[in-house]
Amino acid sequence: MRVRIPASSANLGPGFDCFGLAWQCWNEIEFIPGGDKLKINGCPERFQNRENLAFRGYLAVLEACGLKEEPLSIEFLKTEIPVSRGLGSSAALIVGGAAAANALHGLGLSRDELLRIATPIEGHPDNIAPALFGGLTVSAMEDGRALTAAFPLSSKLFFTTLIPDFELSTERSRSVLPASVPRADAIFNVSRAALLLKALGTGDGALLGLALQDRLHQPFRTKLIPGFNRVRGLAESLGAAGLCISGAGSTLLCVAMGPDFSREMASAMAADFPGWQVRPILPDVQGVQVF
Ligand code: HSE
Repeated sequence: MRVRIPASSANLGPGFDCFGLAWQCWNEIEFIPGGDKLKINGCPERFQNRENLAFRGYLAVLEACGLKEEPLSIEFLKTEIPVSRGLGSSAALIVGGAAAANALHGLGLSRDELLRIATPIEGHPDNIAPALFGGLTVSAMEDGRALTAAFPLSSKLFFTTLIPDFELSTERSRSVLPASVPRADAIFNVSRAALLLKALGTGDGALLGLALQDRLHQPFRTKLIPGFNRVRGLAESLGAAGLCISGAGSTLLCVAMGPDFSREMASAMAADFPGWQVRPILPDVQGVQVF
């Protein structure tokens, strides 16, 4: 049983812990029941244990359905999603494990049910939902249960990821956030988040620039990303409609109105930011796939 799970960008500026968008950049994992004990191959040794997130996603589904754990081999076949860069690599593993358990044991759980089971492992649904469903999703927690809705995404938008050569753990990136925010900042974000859905749905570049603004997390996180202001300046000078931190960082996500932006940004960054990868990226609309 093979699963293919997309990368994703959470937050998208103002949609902190709620918005997510899946990408055509995948991890592929094989789950083979049998053997004498849990075996995990194809990933660094420190992840070859029961804490492995693919295994935890798998186990969570078995437990939710009252099934007993049996020996299993997990083989990482393809790992395109960079780790600890804000592109949803953890969520992809959890979703991969959950989808594999569902399929291997013929459980027939819906994606909504998998979302509810998988989200507590990650703590928030914003990467789990796009990894499961694909596309642009807005998720919420209600009485401890995750739910999500899909939103349209215009094909007029061109996305570019700027991936630095340093990791940024979600834990570190959340540690710099204030526990409460002024009401004016909350209002600022509510308005931008609602307008962002309109801008992403219609491909309205002028609205995007305004709607990608955020006051809940990005102002505190940019200091964890050396070079942020200069990179943003470059993106703006090349006509990007907007830029935000992808998830908790360290990757930055640019939105442009034409296909040339990625190439121009790559050459603009080459001299001063040689460690950064500048990659055009396409939205994924399928979510997790089981083969
Ligand atoms: N919404 C989360 C954050 C995504 O920004 O901390 C990272 O998992």
